[in-house]
Amino acid sequence: MLIEVEDRLLVLIHAAGHFYALDDVCTHDGGPLSDGPVDGQDGTIACPRHGAKFDVSSGAAKTMPATKPTVAHEVKVDGDQVLVRLNEE
Ligand code: FES
Repeated sequence: MLIEVEDRLLVLIHAAGHFYALDDVCTHDGGPLSDGPVDGQDGTIACPRHGAKFDVSSGAAKTMPATKPTVAHEVKVDGDQVLVRLNEE
C-alpha cells in the first residue's frame, strides 16, 4: 500500500509475515512501485511500468531495466502499529 511519511511517498509491503517499506520510486524511470505486484516467493516487488524487480528487504534492483537500488526504510511492528523510520539516503 502507498503511505506518506514526512512528505515522502513509500510503499508498505506485507510479505511472508514481515513488513517492509521502500521509496515508492523505481530507479529506472520513476515508476510507482506501489502499483506493482509483490512476489512473496522471491521477496520482490515489480515496477508496473517496465517490470524491474526490487528486493523488498534491501531495495536492491534484482532485474533489468533497473540497475540501482531504491531506498529501503526500517520498519518495526509495535502491537497493532507499524512504525517506519526514514532512511535519509
Ligand atoms: S520505470 Fe520502473 S522499470 Fe521502468
